[in-house]
Amino acid sequence: MSFKFSLLLLLLPLYGNTILENATCKKCHPTIFSEYQSSIHAKSSIFKDSVHKAVWDKHPDKLKGNYKCAKCHTPSDHDLISGKTKLSKNDIQESEPISCQACHTIESIEEHKKINKNIFTKKRKLFFSADKQREGKVVKFKEESSFFGLVTKTVGSPYHDINYSNRNFYNGDMCLGCHDHKQNGKGFAVCDMQIKKGNSKETCISCHMPKLQGSFVNLKDTKKHAFHGISIHTTDVSLLSKYIKLSLNRTAKGFEVTIKNEATHTLFAQPLRLNQLRVTIERDGKTIPLKTENFVRIIGKDGKPAMPWVADSELKNTLIKAHEVRKVAYDTPLKKGDIVVLEFGYYLVNPNSAKKLGITDKSVTNFTILTKNRFKI
Ligand code: HEC
Ligand code: HEC
Ligand code: HEC
Ligand code: HEC
Ligand code: HEC
Repeated sequence: MSFKFSLLLLLLPLYGNTILENATCKKCHPTIFSEYQSSIHAKSSIFKDSVHKAVWDKHPDKLKGNYKCAKCHTPSDHDLISGKTKLSKNDIQESEPISCQACHTIESIEEHKKINKNIFTKKRKLFFSADKQREGKVVKFKEESSFFGLVTKTVGSPYHDINYSNRNFYNGDMCLGCHDHKQNGKGFAVCDMQIKKGNSKETCISCHMPKLQGSFVNLKDTKKHAFHGISIHTTDVSLLSKYIKLSLNRTAKGFEVTIKNEATHTLFAQPLRLNQLRVTIERDGKTIPLKTENFVRIIGKDGKPAMPWVADSELKNTLIKAHEVRKVAYDTPLKKGDIVVLEFGYYLVNPNSAKKLGITDKSVTNFTILTKNRFKI
């Protein structure tokens, strides 16, 4: 079979009416495609994310049929975005609400007070990516033969061009069209990551998409690929826990726990989350629980907690900020032989909010431990 013919077969859509964009990428990028399936970006619609659905079901815009959330939650449902259709269950909503293209075609980010805006390239089959060795280049497909035509080497992708000159793919800013902040109709910031890059070597991409074993494409052996399974909904926290450091110092009254946040953003800024430090002492075969410290941002109106579209003020904010070193003091004297166990983790949905929203799904209401440490005194 000729190369061109097999390529044609490869690119024929497999699905009836809806042509899923990712189905094409899957053929040549199988490892990344399969990781993506478990990422939150593959499940960010109301049909896959029960938490997003629970909030949307209570949202006043639902009655008006105005699903404004689409800009960030389901940008790949192009008919919905352009106003041709209303929000409804379809293959895109269910399997690629934020498709491969949705990210790889982001040309720039326009900054706005309310929400930022992604500007997509209008060029077809042109994807942005990062590669230090090719920085600044646009790579088009080429077949190069050497040894009098006996050996053919290909450069680039037979399906698409690659542009390596977009700095947002090097510094992580390509995430910020959706992730920086969000204000409600009252101009109140419901969510704000308060990003501080400082002189951090790490970016959104290096921390959340670290290079793992396995080639990024089946036509070329690259050894490594950028992890595409981004999620905190699954309980595998092993990739990120190293950026939160826990330590313990004895004090005159007892001891002090230090939490160092190396992330370039506020931890768990999404207002539904509840972040906690839990401390126990193992002494003489018994376990003694000490007070639990909450890190939380409560938003509301007239001094009472309120839903995000009603809130106009912050009632409480003890979240740990970008690069912050937080200390929590305990007045419990320690004895030789004690083991102090520290657990730092989060609820995806604060149990109080879960009750109000009628969320009972165990995978969402459980406490997830992000990092844990034991100290022998
Ligand atoms: C087109 C918009 C968009 C872009 C671009 C985007 N995200 Fe997201 N991301 C979302 C939305 C929407 C959610 C929340 C989905 C949900 O929980 O239903 C999310 C969730 C997340 C989460 C939380 C995971 C979880 O399980 O709750 C992380 C971490 C994340 N994104 C990281 C990134 C990083 C890193 C980048 C850049 C490489 C990025 N995102 C680019 C829209 C986007
Ligand atoms: C500016 C982009 C943007 C818009 C518009 C937007 N969201 Fe989100 N949403 C996000 C991002 C990014 C996250 C992930 C935040 C995080 O995990 O820190 C998120 C997370 C959420 C979550 C938490 C989901 C989970 O599973 O934990 C809920 C609930 C949510 N959004 C509801 C909505 C609703 C309802 C709308 C529309 C009325 C909406 N959002 C509009 C960007 C957006
Ligand atoms: C949330 C945004 C986002 C989504 C969704 C996304 N990517 Fe990526 N992808 C990136 C970023 C950012 C990089 C650059 C990583 C780096 O620094 O090398 C990247 C890198 C890549 C690379 C190249 C190199 C490597 O080291 O892995 C390939 C190939 C790729 N993506 C394909 C895909 C495919 C196929 C899909 C869909 C199944 C997809 N991407 C979905 C953001 C995304
Ligand atoms: C016919 C096979 C084929 C298909 C289909 C395909 N790609 Fe690729 N892609 C490649 C090859 C080969 C490369 C590596 C080119 C090189 O390094 O010279 C590549 C590279 C990339 C890169 C850049 C990797 C880097 O160096 O950082 C991205 C991003 C990417 N592809 C995204 C996609 C997306 C998104 C889709 C689906 C819309 C897709 N590709 C479909 C073959 C394909
Ligand atoms: C130094 C590493 C590091 C960098 C840089 C970083 N993060 Fe994070 N991020 C973390 C850690 C650690 C967590 C908390 C652990 C977890 O989510 O599993 C986190 C959590 C998140 C969450 C989930 C919060 C929630 O409440 O749902 C989102 C969304 C996110 N990061 C997006 C980003 C974006 C966007 C950038 C770039 C501005 C970025 N991160 C840069 C380490 C990092």
